[in-house]
Amino acid sequence: MIRLSGITKEVTQGGTPVSILQSIDLHIAAGEFISIMGPSGSGKSTLLNILGLLDEPSSGEYSFEGSQVNNLSSNKQAMFRNDRIGFVFQSFMLIPRMSVKENVILPLLYTNVSRRERNNRMEEALKQVGMLEKAKEPIINLSGGQKQKVAIARAIVTDPDLILADEPTGNLDQKSKEDVLQIFKSLHQRGKTVVLVTHDLEVAQVAQRVMTMRNGQWLEPNLKQKVGSVR
Ligand SMILES: Nc1ncnc2c1ncn2[C@@H]1O[C@H](COP(=O)(O)OP(=O)(O)O)[C@@H](O)[C@H]1O
Ligand SMILES: [Mg+2]
Repeated sequence: MIRLSGITKEVTQGGTPVSILQSIDLHIAAGEFISIMGPSGSGKSTLLNILGLLDEPSSGEYSFEGSQVNNLSSNKQAMFRNDRIGFVFQSFMLIPRMSVKENVILPLLYTNVSRRERNNRMEEALKQVGMLEKAKEPIINLSGGQKQKVAIARAIVTDPDLILADEPTGNLDQKSKEDVLQIFKSLHQRGKTVVLVTHDLEVAQVAQRVMTMRNGQWLEPNLKQKVGSVR
């Protein structure tokens, strides 16, 4: 489904070039659940943002189902992102003054889905994360764990193929963390491709495959990663 080859990211900090990613290769098969581990500052978020077309690599190739996506115009990239990718962040990124259902329905406002269908999809997404009964609640009334479930509902409401999560359990207590991991597992069982970034081994191990980054590169054993079958 996804193939990265020779992806690099360089930025300049105070006039000095800094290398954040050093020639990253990665293959992800459709329906796979992988996690990316590594200490803070190792480049995990940068890589995830490149996968999600939120950031541009400095060099290298990114192909999605066989087509190059890094050459697309920013308009086409935005359409592609809205259509195919769902994001979940550590800090939830919900709009606090809006209700649960208003937050979840937001990504559908950029599509030509009818109002009735938007409502159906919102309810279905909230049902999948066990938050339907909180649909009318303002976000500010929710606990961290509940917010993250709503954020997952928002990520899946457009029925994306790929779900990218950056430290999704980083701000959660143990019980909520387990609930959220259970939701990712069930999304994977429903055929979604999931990439989960974390520095927590317990979290990483829910995935089928754990990759480890250090200083913008894969840690050695990962270089011999098995390439799964392409669907
Ligand atoms: N836009 C940027 N400008 C300068 N430095 C950056 C930028 N983005 C990330 N970095 C640096 O790159 C390194 C990797 O960052 P990041 O991908 O956020 O790592 P991680 O998610 O593993 O903690 C860090 O040292 C960070 O400070
Ligand atoms: Mg990060």
